[in-house]
Amino acid sequence: MEIRKVGIVGCGLMGSGIAQVCATAGYPTIVREVSQSLLEKGLAAIDRSLSKLVENEALTAEQRTSALGHLQQTLRLEDLSGCDIVIEAIVENLERKKELLAELDGVLKAAAIFASNTSSLSITEMMTATRRGPQFIGLHFFNPAPLMQLVEVIKTVVSDPEVVRAGFEFARTLGKTPILTTDRAGFIVNRLLVPYLLDAVRTFEEGVGSIEDIDQGMKLGCNHPMGPFTLLDFVGIETTYYIAEILFNEYREKRFAPPPLLKRMVMAGLYGRKAGKGFYDYTDPKNPRPNRLLER
Ligand code: 3HC
Repeated sequence: MEIRKVGIVGCGLMGSGIAQVCATAGYPTIVREVSQSLLEKGLAAIDRSLSKLVENEALTAEQRTSALGHLQQTLRLEDLSGCDIVIEAIVENLERKKELLAELDGVLKAAAIFASNTSSLSITEMMTATRRGPQFIGLHFFNPAPLMQLVEVIKTVVSDPEVVRAGFEFARTLGKTPILTTDRAGFIVNRLLVPYLLDAVRTFEEGVGSIEDIDQGMKLGCNHPMGPFTLLDFVGIETTYYIAEILFNEYREKRFAPPPLLKRMVMAGLYGRKAGKGFYDYTDPKNPRPNRLLER
């Protein structure tokens, strides 16, 4: 089960980050998007990130050139036919993922490993769109993929243990640390992280502290790299809301229920950093200011 060539489907925030990590590790990596403009946007993000890593002396200029040399782009799914592993990183929509996976099933060679980078959708349900259940696993990377150390390897009740092992080895060759988890909503990390983020919103709504004080509290009191509101804006308010809904539907426990404020922010388009406004206002991106309109 040797992995020599990697395919990535989706070149958004996560897909581009994963493609960058694979290419930097020396894998010939082919990334597929649905339009040339999306491909170009993703590849530009890879270029910026690699340049930043060189600037910060985390990579040499030669490693950057070599990584770019390992990257190929395509709009055609058929071009992934020679890949030993394909990581799906498209939009978090189960139906769209299932459609894509069914199509990929007809393209990939018999021994290829299917992996999804979903944050919270069921790996088992995605697997049902293919005829290769034993070869299907989850490989969940964290944002920003080039910097975050962890990969969750998710097995289903029918995953072949050899495939799970190959997923572990693959993550290690990317310089990441893999952990094993089963297919339950949120896996390990989002199952623990999301209720914490939701509780931060409730803490704010109950008037226990301001956005900046709650953030400072968790940064300085617990040495978290980001406070919960900075992290919510970073992950995306709509993404967190979406994951919380999936967790709540699976477990029916109050701690997973998205608080009303989060829902209102999604309705109002306050998605966080990418929208320019969330719990903070990013009009000056180097100096975000708490969004005072959220205070009661
Ligand atoms: N590529 C290359 N360089 C990057 C980068 C990227 N993608 N992102 C940030 N950097 C650079 C920054 O530009 C900065 O360089 P500079 O000092 O020259 O400007 C350098 O890395 C350090 O960044 P920061 O100054 O912002 O300082 P940090 O030490 O805080 O590092 C961080 C940034 C690694 C993002 C850190 O803040 C962190 O770990 N934050 C928490 C992230 C987190 O929790 N991610 C998980 C989210 S949950 C998830 O992904 C699951 C999903 O399913 C929802």
